[in-house]
Amino acid sequence: MARVELRNIVKRYGLTIAVDHVSFKVDDGEFFVLLGPSGCGKTTTLRIIAGLEDPDEGEVLIDDVVVNDIPPHKRDIAMVFQNYALYPHMTVYKNLAYPLENMGLSKQEIDRRVREVAKMLYIDHLLDRKPGQLSGGEQQRVALGRALVRRPKVFLMDEPLSNLDAKLRVYMRAELKRLQKELGITTIYVTHDQAEAMTMADKIAVMNKGKIMQIGNPKELYLKPANTFVAGFIGSPPMNFFDASLIVKNNQFILDAGDFILSIPREMGELITSNTSISEVIIGIRPEHFDIVDKPDENTIKAEVYVVEPLGAETIIDVKIGNRIFKVATKGIVEYPIGQTIYIKPMIKYLHIFDKKTGNAII
Ligand SMILES: Nc1ncnc2c1ncn2[C@@H]1O[C@H](COP(=O)(O)OP(=O)(O)OP(=O)(O)O)[C@@H](O)[C@H]1O
Ligand SMILES: [Mg+2]
Repeated sequence: MARVELRNIVKRYGLTIAVDHVSFKVDDGEFFVLLGPSGCGKTTTLRIIAGLEDPDEGEVLIDDVVVNDIPPHKRDIAMVFQNYALYPHMTVYKNLAYPLENMGLSKQEIDRRVREVAKMLYIDHLLDRKPGQLSGGEQQRVALGRALVRRPKVFLMDEPLSNLDAKLRVYMRAELKRLQKELGITTIYVTHDQAEAMTMADKIAVMNKGKIMQIGNPKELYLKPANTFVAGFIGSPPMNFFDASLIVKNNQFILDAGDFILSIPREMGELITSNTSISEVIIGIRPEHFDIVDKPDENTIKAEVYVVEPLGAETIIDVKIGNRIFKVATKGIVEYPIGQTIYIKPMIKYLHIFDKKTGNAII
């Protein structure tokens, strides 16, 4: 049982603010993901929770107790590092058993736990080897196993799947998620991969430049991104953005993007005008929220096929509108010659509208 809370954590390295007033709460048993681009402060945040770095400001709480002054080994936390370090002179078996040997467990219990974890991570055939005789992905799985055998109060994992090949990574993320739920151990997991975050997390904190941009479950982040950063970071291919002016003509609300216009429902227009005094906005529309239609109609956009990327289950069509490229995703395999004119129609109910000045979501 463990809850983890960060209150206004700040960490500076010289002039760099690696972590900038970060606060969040992780519930008992929750799978919490810190997601953000390289250098945004994810590892530093995790190391502060583990007690490996001291914050300049703020508090870390475990089960409502401030642990700032409690040393790492007394926090009952297991961390899988981005640059995992295995004991090179020990076999895989010994690497896995080692954390258990100081816990006063019987030899049989240690053996049972080591074999169970090794089987789950597909390293049971490697138990007699030394780390130097393993591939990068295998070493990473051993590092993961070493944290898992201990069954600590809290798991901290820093990009533990980054060295695995694509297929194994997809397999392992499902396995890890299932295992985490089975063991019920509170987990804070760091990644820069939005698909990994979306598929694994109960809750995600999106970070940028040391700051939390938004906290929510995967569905909330996808459907209601709080700003253009989150909107552009969550989803693949990423959301299309374009600048537009809101104008009211003949009692009709219109978004004028220069190369095309969209008329929007009155309620949507009124929501924009009530939220911002300026009429300059950024429209966001995800690739999967376009229909491709046969002929022009209200709110269709004339576009030219730039390139077609068939993925099997879906096809990504890059289209040119004016001098901008938009991505449109459509189910199944669709073929178009380059240069063909097509008509695309954004699903108006899925439009995202942001204040151009702040980047914050209005709708
Ligand atoms: N020991 C250090 N000394 C100086 N600067 C540091 C130190 N550790 C981290 N930083 C800086 O703090 C910022 C956050 O680094 P951090 O390692 O937390 O990022 P990250 O989100 O984990 O990135 P990545 O995805 O690349 O691992 C970066 O600008 C980094 O250069
Ligand atoms: Mg890192």
